[in-house]
Amino acid sequence: MLLHRVSRGLSRVSQNISRVHIGALLVTEKKFYAQQAYASKADYPEAEKAQDWFVDEEEQEIQKLLRKIYSENENEGITPELRELVNKVNSVKDLARVSKLAVKISSELSVQGYPTGYMFKKPLVRVAVTGAAGNIGYSLLPRIASGEMLGYDQPIALHLIEVPQAEKALEGVKMELQDCAFPLLREIITTSDLKTGFKDVDYVILVGGKPRTKGMERKDLLLENAKIFAEQGKALNEYAKKTCLALVVGNPANTNALILSAHAPKIPKENISALMRLDHDRAIAQLAKKLKARVGDIKNVFVLGNHSSTQVPDATHAQLKTGVKVSIPEDWMKNEFIPTVQQRGAAIINARGASSAFSAADATIKHMRDWVLGSDEIVSMAVPSDGSYGVAPGVYCGYPVRCKGNGKYEIVKDFQLSDYVKQKLGESVKELLSEKNAVKSLLK
Ligand code: NAD
Ligand code: LMR
Repeated sequence: MLLHRVSRGLSRVSQNISRVHIGALLVTEKKFYAQQAYASKADYPEAEKAQDWFVDEEEQEIQKLLRKIYSENENEGITPELRELVNKVNSVKDLARVSKLAVKISSELSVQGYPTGYMFKKPLVRVAVTGAAGNIGYSLLPRIASGEMLGYDQPIALHLIEVPQAEKALEGVKMELQDCAFPLLREIITTSDLKTGFKDVDYVILVGGKPRTKGMERKDLLLENAKIFAEQGKALNEYAKKTCLALVVGNPANTNALILSAHAPKIPKENISALMRLDHDRAIAQLAKKLKARVGDIKNVFVLGNHSSTQVPDATHAQLKTGVKVSIPEDWMKNEFIPTVQQRGAAIINARGASSAFSAADATIKHMRDWVLGSDEIVSMAVPSDGSYGVAPGVYCGYPVRCKGNGKYEIVKDFQLSDYVKQKLGESVKELLSEKNAVKSLLK
């Protein structure tokens, strides 16, 4: 009896499945013919009607917003509809889709002018990148120019800065950027002159400098790269906007940020930070692997201290966003997690023969995006110490921060650090202080 009922149930399910299947086939077929008809519009008067078959709901909503914007908004201001439309744009693909619809609707309504102009009402911002012809630069620039860093509604001018010997290679990078025809990229300046490079810039990403090679520690680069950051600090102070946000990527990043800040007194020291997001993401990736969780589900992991082999990735407070409790074995954290994250840069150099590049570019994009556009997540950034967690003031230290947008952030102070983490953080801060001491002649 029971068996009979189960088998009847199964056969009903299978009937339903085949009905859905046939339905899906019909829709696909209609879409196919509709697309054919639309593609050769001139020959098919019914094409417009047929087109509706492949306009999904969201597209119809976008069309509605565009119609409203074009027909009612004479003064080109940012209207709620425009804001809503811009919020719908999450990728270059979306942007292309909205632009295509905008062209169609503006021509239907006979609106004059650049049809997608309404979408780009934000004033242009200037983004300087040093070391732009290097490895990180090559992965970083297309992502900035596509809108991934500052938003898909933000027009950009790129100031690409290199040493004179690399200017020819930089021209090639410029050509490639032009060939991408990025809708948001309005201007590209290439230069080895810091006045031209930093003039009126809003955002500065300082990548230029030497990377370490096998067997070196990052601090071995200190004396060589420090001078670059002193010179660039002076130029930033003189030519950049005083409100600019500067991210130091070149190693040793924390101390280079300190040198930069010392030479740029007109720029608030909180507007300068150093990259620890790569360490942060490495920590999350390792933990996700251990917990068999998705990286996007993990929160409250952060990296304290110096971007060096003394850094302190802390997973003690990790939580899953799903609310499921996690427990992190202490011996795993001490003996595997922390050393793996601390040594990850060196492991990549050993394997690749060159230091991390696209992962560093990825971390740079995320750091800047959160800093400028804000985020609810706790992320790791090296920022000027304010004494939190017992760190001596006067160094750029990795902290858990929450970005509020427009360059504002707060150090999240309410984690109770374990004695082990406190001890390790003390060692990392000691290293920061010794790096500071090594460049004291450049800090005057
Ligand atoms: P790279 O050698 O491929 O490129 C560096 C570029 O900087 C070169 O094109 C060089 O000509 C240029 N440069 C040198 N001095 C300059 C100056 N004074 N002004 C402008 N440009 C200058 O190196 P890369 O792999 O792109 O790495 C760049 C830096 O980033 C290194 O110091 C590396 O250690 C560091 N890095 C940091 C992190 C991090 O997480 N903080 C991650 C990866 C790499
Ligand atoms: C990294 O962490 O990958 C970079 O800082 C490069 C390096 O020297 O390790």
